[in-house]
Amino acid sequence: MHEQPSPERSPSQHVVNELREALGADVVSLPHEFAGRKNSDSSRMPCEEPIALVRPRNTEHVATALRICHEHGQAVVTQGGLTGLAGGATFLGGEVALSLELMNGIESIDAISASMTVLSGTPLQIVQEAADAAGFMFPLDLGARGSCTIGGNLATNAGGNRVIKYGMMRDQVLDIEAVLADGSIVGGLRKMIKNNTGYDLRNLLIGSEGTLAVITRAVLRLRPKPRAVSTAWCGLPNYDAVTTLLRRAQESLPAGVSAFEVMWPGYYDFVLSRLPELRAPLQGKHAFYVLLESSGADPERQAAAFEDFLSGMLEEGLLSDAALASSESDAAAFWAIRDAPGEYQRLIPGRVSFDVSFSIADVGEAARRCEQQLREHWPNATILIYGHLGDGNLHIVVQEPDWPPDTAPKVQAVVYGVTGEMGGSVSAEHGIGTKKLKVLALSRTPAELAAMRAIKAALDPLNILNPGKLLPH
Ligand code: LAC
Ligand code: ZN
Repeated sequence: MHEQPSPERSPSQHVVNELREALGADVVSLPHEFAGRKNSDSSRMPCEEPIALVRPRNTEHVATALRICHEHGQAVVTQGGLTGLAGGATFLGGEVALSLELMNGIESIDAISASMTVLSGTPLQIVQEAADAAGFMFPLDLGARGSCTIGGNLATNAGGNRVIKYGMMRDQVLDIEAVLADGSIVGGLRKMIKNNTGYDLRNLLIGSEGTLAVITRAVLRLRPKPRAVSTAWCGLPNYDAVTTLLRRAQESLPAGVSAFEVMWPGYYDFVLSRLPELRAPLQGKHAFYVLLESSGADPERQAAAFEDFLSGMLEEGLLSDAALASSESDAAAFWAIRDAPGEYQRLIPGRVSFDVSFSIADVGEAARRCEQQLREHWPNATILIYGHLGDGNLHIVVQEPDWPPDTAPKVQAVVYGVTGEMGGSVSAEHGIGTKKLKVLALSRTPAELAAMRAIKAALDPLNILNPGKLLPH
């Protein structure tokens, strides 16, 4: 998928000199000045070196950088926290890196409109903590919270653990400011929820993975801080019990469901056996494990209702066993089991990973087919299956030590084969990047791909923004 520089592109050294003259040496660094810097994202996709590193301090700097790159047809890759898993921020060769790391900070919090205005290089966890300190909650949450940035969350429309109640990143935003390929600035910092004034540029740019614009600032939507969070670790006998538990929890819990994370036993046994710091919440083995969370405003009523609900489900046999968190540290210990993928780099190098989704009714069968077909080919492989079941989102991780190097495409053929066959999505929440270019057409029709290409050509006619990502040739 390597994008060949087109003949009309100017020699890159000339562009770098012009960027450096316009923005200064503290904003534009040369390769010898950033030697040793990590440039790749977390996808383990191949990654070249950028020809220069631009670190703007404000939106005007971004506009200037893009105007110059546009004049010269110079390709640009935008970087956030480099935690992406789809290869959306890798370098294919010859690009300028545009890192938002210095555009980091909270500009203001507006308690009346429940919003926070931030620079897009601000880490997610800083935003969560600032919302909390101001008496609100910023609900987006995912394992990479400490390093990922709001700009990256927006560019990928990140999902994570609380989508079931609060939605994805696009649902956490009132407005964005962004710079288009030619350096023009669009959007703004408007704080209204309703704004039906034509095409929704905000939602077009969110999830565009750096191919349509560089997002520079955002007005985030804050939510009321839950006064009580109830958390349980559940063991269930079969997949029907899992979907029934989900429906019943949504119907009966007064504060609804804020997380419903499902883990198949292969995942649970693997992470508990490999990470000694994890504690098993339940005795005994179960066919499925669910981390159930309900968060709301009424501590007493909610705690009692949550406990009654679990007792009822145990009596009915929908739950085989359950452990109720009686403290924040219990809840944190449950979440630590679900957050174990943060240790994968150390635990399972060379793994092949998936982020697929199906209708909730199909998830159990999809997982069963994937596991069965993977086992037929690789009887001894480690196969980990878990995910955000409330959103129909499965993560599948497959690995075998000493696999021949050509195994990954074969493993992908199995899982994407099942995904295509069952009408699922090849990317639930991680995006397309470079990693899923070849399988995008399993989830998108030719007409949809043509419409996406038309949008790309209209907003970035010279194809300078993250070329070779998201849209297959
Ligand atoms: C997770 C990330 C990897 O859910 O999407 O663990
Ligand atoms: Zn996930």
